[in-house]
Amino acid sequence: MTAIAASTDRKVHVPLGERAYDILIGPGLIARAGAEIASRLKGRKAAIITDENVAPLYLEALVESLNAAGIASASLVLPAGEKTKSFEHLITACDKVLEARIERNDYVIALGGGVIGDLSGFTAGIVRRGVRFVQVPTSLLSQVDSSVGGKTGINSRHGKNLIGVFHQADLVLADTDVLNTLSEREFRAGYAEVAKYGLIDKPEFFAWLEANWKSVFSGGSARIEAIAASCQAKADVVVADEHENGQRALLNLGHTFGHALEAATAYDSARLVHGEGVSIGMVLAHEFSARMNLASPDDARRVEHHLREVGLPTRMSEIPGALPPADVLMDAIAQDKKVKGGKLTFILTRGIGQSFVANDVPASEVLSFLKEKHPQ
Ligand SMILES: NC(=O)c1ccc[n+]([C@@H]2O[C@H](COP(=O)([O-])OP(=O)(O)OC[C@H]3O[C@@H](n4cnc5c(N)ncnc54)[C@H](O)[C@@H]3O)[C@@H](O)[C@H]2O)c1
Ligand SMILES: [Zn+2]
Repeated sequence: MTAIAASTDRKVHVPLGERAYDILIGPGLIARAGAEIASRLKGRKAAIITDENVAPLYLEALVESLNAAGIASASLVLPAGEKTKSFEHLITACDKVLEARIERNDYVIALGGGVIGDLSGFTAGIVRRGVRFVQVPTSLLSQVDSSVGGKTGINSRHGKNLIGVFHQADLVLADTDVLNTLSEREFRAGYAEVAKYGLIDKPEFFAWLEANWKSVFSGGSARIEAIAASCQAKADVVVADEHENGQRALLNLGHTFGHALEAATAYDSARLVHGEGVSIGMVLAHEFSARMNLASPDDARRVEHHLREVGLPTRMSEIPGALPPADVLMDAIAQDKKVKGGKLTFILTRGIGQSFVANDVPASEVLSFLKEKHPQ
């Protein structure tokens, strides 16, 4: 069966040898999912895993599209939110996949944001020692970040994402229409990751975002372009360093500070969501680089100006509620990173789009910087 490809679709190929796969990006892809899957994969059975917010919006359309292509499916609807990335829900998901008699050529389909993608990918990676995996990411963050690159997993009481496997998808279908039902706050949070790709090594992309962000937010072709450019940027990094031995760490730009702020707010999404932490973290990373005389303070100001204009927080003082003191934030950073002889590994920058992995950042400098920046 051949799918009727919409002319507006963009395709990003992830060339990982025998694990190579395509990411299709465009409007109406859920309605075409069955045809796109059937034209590429052999299996005719699927287990769909989704969450309670996404299910009422898109599950029926996906099931119908699979049916029309001769693919039988079973569905599992889990609670929405980060807590779903747990052993408890992993067991439920594995049981559902086995109950649906998914064989190795059949597939698990993740229909949802990064939470559902990470849990479903882990499930697909371990049931029968690995079944096929299709991602239908529905949040901006999952379309530009978590659905690319094969990292899957759940959280432990020892920390986030500590239990999981690498399991690449066989196909990713990013339907850009579904972003219209995403809350504005979640859309903005995903946008922080889009901007991140420009700041890592694509200054021309960052400049394009500065000029075009309004149409990225309102939908249409600029949105598709931004998502495709982000998937391509992440795919390039993943292909160069699939298992994060080196350059893949660049994807953590802004994340060291961001994770510390997420930990400091106890992962309470009412106070801070991941992308907001990354936004503040990217501004801090640029300011810290300026303080270390690596980059001009003008670059930090330019980054802050753009993130602020799209409505993202850029300062620690914008996080509602009190933050722990700077030395407690520093402890969270030290836990996130290995400290060797008082030195930390950090993603720093020489300017817009000139990030690099710095292995010898003095922890004492980071602490005095945090004391300066701390709102109290
Ligand atoms: N595997 C990776 O490489 C990787 C990379 C980055 C992030 N992550 C993980 O991704 C997760 C965050 O992903 P997220 O931001 O998508 O969170 P999420 O999955 O919790 O989705 C955010 C919220 O939006 C809702 N939602 C999703 N799509 C919607 C739509 N189209 N319309 C209406 N509501 C919708 C969800 O139900 C949820 O309430 C974290 O657990 C993080 O660790 C993984
Ligand atoms: Zn991130």
